[in-house]
Amino acid sequence: MAETKRTATLTIDGVSHELPIYSPTAGPDVIDIRKLYAEAGLFTYDPGFTSTASCDSTITFIDGGKGELLHRGYPIDQLAGKSHYLEVCYLLLYGELPSAAELEDFEERVTKHTMLHEQMQNFFRGFRRDAHPMAVMVGVVGAMSAFYHDSTDINDEWQREVASIRLIAKMPTIAAWAYKYHVGQPFVYPRNDLDYASNFLRMCFAVPAEEYEVDPILSRAMDRIFTLHADHEQNASTSTVRLASSSGANPFACIAAGIACLWGPAHGGANQACLEMLQEIGSVDRIPEYIARAKDKNDPFRLMGFGHRVYKNFDPRAKVMKQSADEVLDLMGIENNPVLQVAKELEKQALDDPYFADKKLFPNVDFYSGIILEAMGFPTSMFTPIFALSRTVGWISQWKEQLGDPQMKIGRPRQLYLGETHRDYVDIENR
Ligand code: CMC
Repeated sequence: MAETKRTATLTIDGVSHELPIYSPTAGPDVIDIRKLYAEAGLFTYDPGFTSTASCDSTITFIDGGKGELLHRGYPIDQLAGKSHYLEVCYLLLYGELPSAAELEDFEERVTKHTMLHEQMQNFFRGFRRDAHPMAVMVGVVGAMSAFYHDSTDINDEWQREVASIRLIAKMPTIAAWAYKYHVGQPFVYPRNDLDYASNFLRMCFAVPAEEYEVDPILSRAMDRIFTLHADHEQNASTSTVRLASSSGANPFACIAAGIACLWGPAHGGANQACLEMLQEIGSVDRIPEYIARAKDKNDPFRLMGFGHRVYKNFDPRAKVMKQSADEVLDLMGIENNPVLQVAKELEKQALDDPYFADKKLFPNVDFYSGIILEAMGFPTSMFTPIFALSRTVGWISQWKEQLGDPQMKIGRPRQLYLGETHRDYVDIENR
């Protein structure tokens, strides 16, 4: 727990309450209101948690004003440029960059857990072919607790570690198989001689009828997409994982809850929604029409891939993603991609528009990611599953941190009740 240096005085009906203020290593100070209800009989009110810190954390920090994202102190652009996904996983999980020996050991542990219990194939086959891959992922990840009983005891440190490695290792297999089932192709088993990103690409795109060579350019781009999505402090899906875990639920159930939350278009579902929006706009001359719609309060339409609760400046992930989109399309020989042109012009026009400037709405991570994923051959329905597999390490790191926190309590928000007060039941014939 952070040190208390100051207090805030809250005076209600002439009675003063001293509330400790804690100073974090970075970010705004926080007022500790935990004793407020016991002392003053009042709740605080903050729908959407816009001003509420729900936990202590040492994993990830976002400076929304500067547009900076740090994992364990390291800036995301340095990690995306110099590191790779499994090293970032190690950093998030254990707090420090690994030595060469530690990294080798970690990579081996992850690689050895990539296969799924064979019977899980029956589980996949129970879904309709046209099921969205996110629906399949929620179900299959939740079902892992029925297949891996020996790593569901959250009070056993060894089981927690095994569950963590299993989830990181098996998520690409689950996402790839959700895709394979959807397109009616045979499941492709993981291969231990491939790195994490190459293995995922192969499981998605190889078919038994011919050899599949993983393109190193695509593999590097895939790895970078995983890295850029690895963690993002207390966002909606991470908070969902922490809330589910606070009741003592097993890790597979908690991560399935996180996947369900991520699916929504305001969160991880925005990458699919964004590419669909860019395709619908279709040409640069239609951009003003869509900008006008996004500004119209009577129209529910929003510019997908724009805006963020925390970033009031460029999302640093979007900057790397934009550069990556240019590189990948260039290296793949895709010239004058119309969707990329629409995206760049839409970004320019929106940033020049006082509506977006005044509200500090900038492109977020989802604005350019879909363009890269589509160029790699993924259908839009796979965008959010790829986000989910990348974010799994963040969810797990936050889950492990929470379980080790002596202050952990079951999450149980209060409410501002505005419904009927006590009334007596009326028999149906008298209503
Ligand atoms: N297009 C048009 N107007 C917008 C947009 C947008 N994309 N985003 C926010 N606004 C407006 C909004 O109408 C509101 O205006 P006013 O103050 O006049 O009522 C103001 O900006 C503040 O918006 P808010 O909804 O109160 O802000 P929030 O912090 O609750 O929502 C957000 C953040 C990300 C849900 C929202 O910006 C949004 O819906 N963006 C589009 C979806 C998207 O790209 N989501 C991905 C987020 S990043 C990846 C992830 O976390 O999964």
